[in-house]
Amino acid sequence: MIKSYILIAAAWFLYKAVCSTVLPSDIVKCHFGDSPCIIKSINDVIRRYPKGIPEIGLPPLDATEMEDVSMLDSPYRGPIWLTFHMRDNVIKGFNNATVTHIEGFNRDPTIEPIMIKARIPRLVHEATYDMQEHSLYAQDQDHTGISQQ
Ligand SMILES: *[C@@H]1O[C@H](CO)[C@@H](O)[C@H](O)[C@H]1NC(C)=O
Repeated sequence: MIKSYILIAAAWFLYKAVCSTVLPSDIVKCHFGDSPCIIKSINDVIRRYPKGIPEIGLPPLDATEMEDVSMLDSPYRGPIWLTFHMRDNVIKGFNNATVTHIEGFNRDPTIEPIMIKARIPRLVHEATYDMQEHSLYAQDQDHTGISQQ
């Protein structure tokens, strides 16, 4: 779920970038709505700049850092509760993505729903998690660990 949100955000960002003048000169600039051109330029950016383009705010695509996420933050009540937070989130693999189809990427994004299709051979989500467990029937427990999926 997190991964698909990131994909949409990344595609939107790249779309804005390829329709603007801030791109490096080796990437063809496109007009809003010119899908074939936009798809090609987005894929060119992904291939040629896996480390991102800091000048225009494009983050690294081979290891994209994410904000902390609270997966479970149940209210501290009831006999059993659990909290689950993930930090140091890094998603790896956007550098290998290929955008195959986009729709609705107009100047005004409210006109049409946005659709994007991409092939991504493998996405790896690495994070450090903290879990806190409370139960009336056992001792409270804190866990910290590394998650990789
Ligand atoms: C992306 O592709 C490169 C080159 O083929 C490979 O080394 C890397 O492991 C791939 N990334 C992921 C997350 O699979």
